[in-house]
Amino acid sequence: MAGSGVRSSPTTSAFLLIAAVSLFYSARSQDTSSQLLQGINSYRTFLNLSTLTENQNAACLADQVAQQFKDQGCTNTTGANTVPGTNEQFPNFPDLLAHCHLDPLVTQDGQILPACVPGLTPSLVLANFTKSQYNQFLNDTSYTGAGIASEGNWIVLVLSTNTSQGNFATVEGGSAILEASVRYSLLSLFLALWF
Ligand SMILES: *[C@@H]1O[C@H](CO)[C@@H](O)[C@H](O)[C@H]1NC(C)=O
Ligand SMILES: *[C@@H]1O[C@H](CO)[C@@H](O)[C@H](O)[C@H]1NC(C)=O
Ligand SMILES: *[C@@H]1O[C@H](CO)[C@@H](O)[C@H](O)[C@H]1NC(C)=O
Ligand SMILES: *[C@@H]1O[C@H](CO)[C@@H](O)[C@H](O)[C@H]1NC(C)=O
Ligand SMILES: *[C@@H]1O[C@H](CO)[C@@H](O)[C@H](O)[C@H]1NC(C)=O
Repeated sequence: MAGSGVRSSPTTSAFLLIAAVSLFYSARSQDTSSQLLQGINSYRTFLNLSTLTENQNAACLADQVAQQFKDQGCTNTTGANTVPGTNEQFPNFPDLLAHCHLDPLVTQDGQILPACVPGLTPSLVLANFTKSQYNQFLNDTSYTGAGIASEGNWIVLVLSTNTSQGNFATVEGGSAILEASVRYSLLSLFLALWF
């Protein structure tokens, strides 16, 4: 286990037990990503920090990164167990950003936190973030937003700030959101024609 930065006080352990139990009983139809966001926000509320709001553009990047990891197995050197500073760098990272219409300038203060958990068991997923070196980012008031995506056994959390260096605002002022709404309109149109 990566030891440094892992804090595990009795209070934190009690919180995690409660969180794990409530996750277990919470609606199972919820997908893994929204369960993780909910778990992290309960954790932040517990720490008296503001909750993270969903950032669609960060979620787009999270999905791109998750696709890169998808075919890799979980080992003790991947995901939340990564030794700090050895995080995998993607040569095609600029393409991943471009896919989401993101300029590197608006993501530089963000954090990309990948975790690998076989079967994405919700309580293990939450622990991979709250009880690993990633805790230092979850326990940080500079982050105000989050985007989460999962592929295979991988789940990626991208944290955003509310500053221009980390808000993940798209270059053309929200083109990704616009595209999503256009796709949604087309889908509605399609459904309207179908039924
Ligand atoms: C959160 O705030 C409450 C009320 O101010 C306080 O009693 C509690 O100890 C705080 N919790 C943490 C984890 O700081
Ligand atoms: C990772 O696992 C391998 C093989 O199981 C082991 O040899 C190595 O010491 C482990 N590394 C860490 C950092 O735990
Ligand atoms: C993260 O999940 C993996 C796979 O379930 C597990 O082996 C590891 O101990 C977890 N790490 C933490 C910090 O919870
Ligand atoms: C979170 O950070 C604050 C301030 O840095 C610190 O007082 C607190 O102990 C941390 N809590 C945990 C659970 O790491
Ligand atoms: C950004 O977030 C911080 C911390 O939550 C808050 O204090 C600040 O007022 C926010 N700034 C803006 C411009 O929303």
